[in-house]
Amino acid sequence: MVNGSGTHRVLLVLCLALGAGAGASADTGVVAAERLRTEYHSNPLGIDQIQPRLSWIVRSDEPGQRQSAYRVLVASTPELLAADTGDLWDTGRVESSQTAQIVYGGSELGSRARCFWKVQAWDHQGRPSPWSEAASWSMGLLDDADWSASYITHEDKSPVFKKTKQLYLPPANQFRKAFTAGKQVKKATLYATALGIYELYLNGKRVGDAYFAPGWSDYNQRAYYQTYDVSELVGDGDNALGIWLAEGWYSGYVGFGLLTGIGTEKTGRATYGKTPSVMAQLEIEYTDGSRETIGTDDSWRVTSDGPIRAADLLMGEEYDATRENSAWSTAGFDATPWGPAILAEDVPAADATFYEFVNPKKHGERPKVKGRPVKLGFKRPRLEAFPGNPVRVTEEIEPIRVLPRPNGAYIFDLGQNFAGVIRLKVKGPAGHRIGLRYGEMLHPDGRLMTENLRKARAQDAYLCKGDPAGETYTPRFTFHGFQYVEVTGLLAPPQPSAVTGLVLHSDTPMVSTFECSDPMVNKLFSNIRWTQRSNFIDLPTDCPQRDERMGWTGDAQIYVNAATYNADVAAFFTKWMRELMESQRPSGVFPGYAPYPFQHGWDFGSAWCDAGVICPWTIWQAYGDTRIIEECWGPMTVYMDWRRSTLKNGLGITQGNPWGDWLSQGARTPFDYIDTVYAAQSARMMSEMAAAIGRQTEAEEYARLLDRVKASFIKKYVGEDGTLGIETQTAYALALSVDLVPEELRPLVATKLADKIVDNGARMSTGFIGTRPLLPVLSATGNNDLAAFLLQSHEFPSWGYEIDQGATSIWERWDSYTREDGFGRHNAAMNSFSHYSFGAVCEWMFGDLAGIRSDGPGYERIIIRPQPPAPGSNGDHEPIDWVRASYDSIRGPIKSAWSLKEGRFELRVQIPTNTTATVILPAADEASITVDGKAIDSVQGVSLVSLDNGQAAIAVPSGAYRFVSTNAVPAATRTFSAKP
Ligand code: BGC
Repeated sequence: MVNGSGTHRVLLVLCLALGAGAGASADTGVVAAERLRTEYHSNPLGIDQIQPRLSWIVRSDEPGQRQSAYRVLVASTPELLAADTGDLWDTGRVESSQTAQIVYGGSELGSRARCFWKVQAWDHQGRPSPWSEAASWSMGLLDDADWSASYITHEDKSPVFKKTKQLYLPPANQFRKAFTAGKQVKKATLYATALGIYELYLNGKRVGDAYFAPGWSDYNQRAYYQTYDVSELVGDGDNALGIWLAEGWYSGYVGFGLLTGIGTEKTGRATYGKTPSVMAQLEIEYTDGSRETIGTDDSWRVTSDGPIRAADLLMGEEYDATRENSAWSTAGFDATPWGPAILAEDVPAADATFYEFVNPKKHGERPKVKGRPVKLGFKRPRLEAFPGNPVRVTEEIEPIRVLPRPNGAYIFDLGQNFAGVIRLKVKGPAGHRIGLRYGEMLHPDGRLMTENLRKARAQDAYLCKGDPAGETYTPRFTFHGFQYVEVTGLLAPPQPSAVTGLVLHSDTPMVSTFECSDPMVNKLFSNIRWTQRSNFIDLPTDCPQRDERMGWTGDAQIYVNAATYNADVAAFFTKWMRELMESQRPSGVFPGYAPYPFQHGWDFGSAWCDAGVICPWTIWQAYGDTRIIEECWGPMTVYMDWRRSTLKNGLGITQGNPWGDWLSQGARTPFDYIDTVYAAQSARMMSEMAAAIGRQTEAEEYARLLDRVKASFIKKYVGEDGTLGIETQTAYALALSVDLVPEELRPLVATKLADKIVDNGARMSTGFIGTRPLLPVLSATGNNDLAAFLLQSHEFPSWGYEIDQGATSIWERWDSYTREDGFGRHNAAMNSFSHYSFGAVCEWMFGDLAGIRSDGPGYERIIIRPQPPAPGSNGDHEPIDWVRASYDSIRGPIKSAWSLKEGRFELRVQIPTNTTATVILPAADEASITVDGKAIDSVQGVSLVSLDNGQAAIAVPSGAYRFVSTNAVPAATRTFSAKP
């Protein structure tokens, strides 16, 4: 779904017609309904949810305001909506405070239906708001029969490529079709999809701004399509439509296929097919009411002789500008030399052998690679409207320095590790070659470090067209994870402006800010955000640079909650959940990555496989989204059947890929221990999700499963003295986090965890799996000072250590590079500088340090519970003594800002209209707390709920408040230090 400019025009007219007065109401105390969205998008086009969900937020300057009722109108035309007629749906006045996940319940919506909607909200005194500004959505092509277009391709006589020592990088193809719009155009809509990746042009102008459409799915089963409003691009008279088509994930190099010798002919390419194809359908409505459709078919023309000579996501792009003809997608262009497009269905399938691992039949054996015959031919996938956020350029970065190299090359340092492409500005004679190589780091001698890219060649090339005024190039069909670009072939020393970094990622709205008194932690927050952006490229990937970039499920489940704090990832995960559910293995388990182009090793690993339960649960919690539970329910229950069937005496299994607590520091936590904990956690989450969608019996069944696993866990692992038998920090953190320890032993187990860390020199030994729960568990069990200490530490292994080594992103390993040993500590091939898993600590920074959490699903009730470290608790650094954080939730913006000076704790909060909060703050007694300078009970709606253990819980309605608690935080009794 991409917003077309035509939609904006309609909305502008609408706003003018409605007087756009909604915002004014907030001043009067009455609520205003704002930020209207459909299926998490503003004015989406071409959706295929036949009962889309609507949401808005309400805003008021009056504290304690809420929505007591709403009315939604959905109309088929802007005019009807302006006349307050909801011909498609008029909810009437609904007594409800709900503002999100409102399921459309109006007339049935067919393909192409256009819906214009607005909301009126009543405040808690029954005063109505003015109507909101109008919003809209349109339906896509709901039925396969709506597509009169056909998939087209070019004539591809190349044999199936079988070489593994050489790359095969075919050119991108250009398709075009001239057409005449015989009458006056009222509206034009373009639908497009591809087996490959496409970019569309209309009359020489680019359609939309998305990269890598239609996105990665298992093309053998399913592909996405996008919808564009092109009303302003189609002219009356002669027009032309142009399409670029590249291999993308469909037939280009994918993941570590080439490296590990799997996939089609062990090349890691041609995974889903051999020849990409595209289907587009332009539907024109004329002002006289007649319609015309121009679809891809064999009347189109195609060429493989265009400027893009090679285009591959991992390997890079080669562009020969001497072949460029900027008129190729305009009506006047002569395409006689081009060939006819071919219907993809007419292309005979090619025989090939597909290699991948298969699980062993016999117990104790390891998976082995096997080949099986496949037919590489066109298979029409099931089509779905793209539900996610398109990948876009979201930011431009200028180089901070240019470093000349002895061989005449120049390295541009962009000062930030990110994912994307560059815009290159050069001058050179026709055919002159400029080479581009990318790297995340430099060797100490100034060379670009590319060893960690493995088989991802990550090189682009540009052949100049010879324009004396200079020329500009930006790759379309590749991306790189990098900070440095080496440019060869420049004819004169360049200005830094010769290269601009274009930051690419799925355009999930960024929703938070975080700042505190420790500059290192602020840098950490920046690094976490950068790494999330770099790795949310159509799906949550492990890394953006080397030959993986796959949807690793373990990394995603570890990080998903942190992700929800940084960005609105509801639509993004809605999309990826489809890939994850679709990737379910025949056994019922979820694999190590999704999409699942090929099996490597076993088809699953403990804790990775639980992503199929953890991710839907987390999205439900953050956004109150129960539809994601419904959509994943079938596969999730099949998965739980697998979990049940693999339990032995209520305990987890040892087989599967042995990733365990991946990258732990010399402390091995056995797989069956990890698996048991995750089995319990999945059972608990399933029980909660079942209850949320009204499946009471299953809720009870999963609760019983949890009890069974917990009982077995306690029996096998938990000693009466609070020892767990498995003496690693990870084992303790997991058990506490999943609540597998008897209540009475929790304090003992928690103390043992803290002691273990202290005994380890006040350092973590946890890997991906153990680090995520570590700080939250410490804070939840009375060891918040230690949690804050670990966050602020600079000693290895820690976030601060990595930052001291120069990190601008989160690294795969704490010491992927050190000033002392360079890259020498690790295998260069497994050394990514953009891997978000250790960035999961972001959830602690928001949830505990700033103290912003949802109390139940969807932020309808909020908990603000900041946890300041005690003065004197940190022997190495000044403990954090102020934090300012904000999070724009699905219910509106939340703020928590605190400072602690000489025992006086001050907290400013903002609670969105139509929500309530419990503010929990350190306090000696009631008398030492003020709210806005007054006693608690004298502030309207604010009341003390409890005061124990030095913590006051205060019920707070919406609004902005300043709490002060004197004598709040006594000096620490224990001081931590990790200094040798
Ligand atoms: C990936 C990880 C992933 C792991 C499995 C790696 O190659 O980059 O992040 O989870 O494999 O252990």
